[in-house]
Amino acid sequence: MAIDSKDLFTVDKETQNFINFYKTIGVEFIKFTDLLREMNILPKTNIQLKPFLKWVGGKSDILNKMEKYFPSDNNITYIEPFLGGGSVLLNNLEKHYSNYIVSDINKNLILTWNVVKNNVIKLIDELKKLEDKNNKEDYYLIRTKYNETTLNDIETAAYFIYLNKTCFRGIYRVNKNNEFNVPYGNYKNVDFNYNNLINVSKNIQNVSFINDDYKNVINKYHSENSFVYLDPPYFKTFQDYDKNKFDDDEFFQFIKPLKNILVSNSFSFLELFEDKEKLKYEIIETKNKINSKNPTEKRNEILMIL
Ligand SMILES: C[S@@+](CC[C@H](N)C(=O)[O-])C[C@H]1O[C@@H](n2cnc3c(N)ncnc32)[C@H](O)[C@@H]1O
Repeated sequence: MAIDSKDLFTVDKETQNFINFYKTIGVEFIKFTDLLREMNILPKTNIQLKPFLKWVGGKSDILNKMEKYFPSDNNITYIEPFLGGGSVLLNNLEKHYSNYIVSDINKNLILTWNVVKNNVIKLIDELKKLEDKNNKEDYYLIRTKYNETTLNDIETAAYFIYLNKTCFRGIYRVNKNNEFNVPYGNYKNVDFNYNNLINVSKNIQNVSFINDDYKNVINKYHSENSFVYLDPPYFKTFQDYDKNKFDDDEFFQFIKPLKNILVSNSFSFLELFEDKEKLKYEIIETKNKINSKNPTEKRNEILMIL
């Protein structure tokens, strides 16, 4: 076991001895924290899961306003084809839907989610090697290594998280050759938050993470027993998540006939609809983090039910 419990929370000496004993007989640490909760040594509180990535268009600040749009019936399949940093997925895990199918076009993003799900302890070991590398020189060395694609999956996921936390505003942008090209972010502190990574890992064990285009995922999985949440790249704004530009019009045509869908987008998305009075939508104010010179500026976002 490469990580030590004392890195994750503070325990008294007696509990530490107890943990050490179980570690020597090979009890897996994550399952062991469950045992500690059962024995009231750790609190049984509902843990607040936080996104482990910064993501352009992340929804953390409007989750409470979105809450009422998600089905309360848990007998459904939840589908989220523009996963990104997953703030909405993490918030919806406590609804305990029958199935969770989430996806994104970004290959290494989905690889990283799968490593967090299946290999979080090895991932943390790898991230520990990157903890003291938040400086310009190391950043560009690591960015070059990441683009050389000779890394294994655990290293790729660790580099993905490192670059996300240390690059300029957490932007994921690639050039025509699919090389990540975002400059160094110059942040004072970078925190990989291992405790949160472990909690996320534990809670996504029944989630399927798929790397594909949204149309394929919806065509394959959406049925009358499912609910889809769509958070595409913002209409007419930041579209550089992938080397292929996002086609707003194709998206509009594709979703028009669909049912049981919640869409979020920039306010201007409304322009595409002709009979607006028949639409069910709400306009909410959110922080503008997209390509803005002033990241604290407010802007309007739309939530629409189809
Ligand atoms: C606005 S972000 C989603 C943010 C997410 N809701 C969050 O809270 O972090 C849009 C996402 O769509 C993905 N994307 C872009 N084009 C796509 C496509 N054609 N199919 C699937 N995903 C796509 C991007 O990689 C990006 O992660």
